Amino acid sequence: MKYDKISLPYKFSDLEPHIDAETVNIHYSKHLQTYVNNLNTIVENNPSFFVGKTLEEVLSDVNNIPEEIKLPVINQGGGVFNHNLYFSILSPTAKLLPEGELLKDINDTFGSVDKLKEQISNASIGHFGSGYGWLVINKYGVLQVMRMSNQDNPLSIGAKPILTIDVWEHAYYLKYKNVRADYVKNIWNIIDWSVVEKLYNKYKA
Ligand SMILES: [Fe+2]
Repeated sequence: MKYDKISLPYKFSDLEPHIDAETVNIHYSKHLQTYVNNLNTIVENNPSFFVGKTLEEVLSDVNNIPEEIKLPVINQGGGVFNHNLYFSILSPTAKLLPEGELLKDINDTFGSVDKLKEQISNASIGHFGSGYGWLVINKYGVLQVMRMSNQDNPLSIGAKPILTIDVWEHAYYLKYKNVRADYVKNIWNIIDWSVVEKLYNKYKA
């Protein structure tokens, strides 16, 4: 069993001017790759636990992870899963508004797409330290905005993540320096709602 990073469906420079090529390159090729390598080292040392399990299954059932590897799996496995989600919802040709059932659900729950984006932005910008802002389907089947620290993942509390914004400094510091708010404001130009819709429809099915 081995876990891997997604293949990027765009070039490092394709997310400019919103995220610069060097940041995407280092973030994907170095940071994410390190999480992949560290996770696979844990897997090599504990093969029987991981056999036949997707990473999503592992992170959805954290109480079942052997105690001696629980924290490393949450950190390294979360680092792989969270970054794969993050990079997969970004696109240089992003669909900038949701449609269909997701749009209806957003309007019912938050009032409008703009209000939802404001909530996710505030959660992401206001998060203290490293972590992510999230849009999830919570364990009651309701859309919810949340923030989590480090590489923690909503799967561990029974939620299904469909959108995430990485607010570790490595995600924006080269271009935006300390101004996380500008990075979060601009990332909406490259968040592809067609991918978010697919995840929503998959989890709602
Ligand atoms: Fe990151």
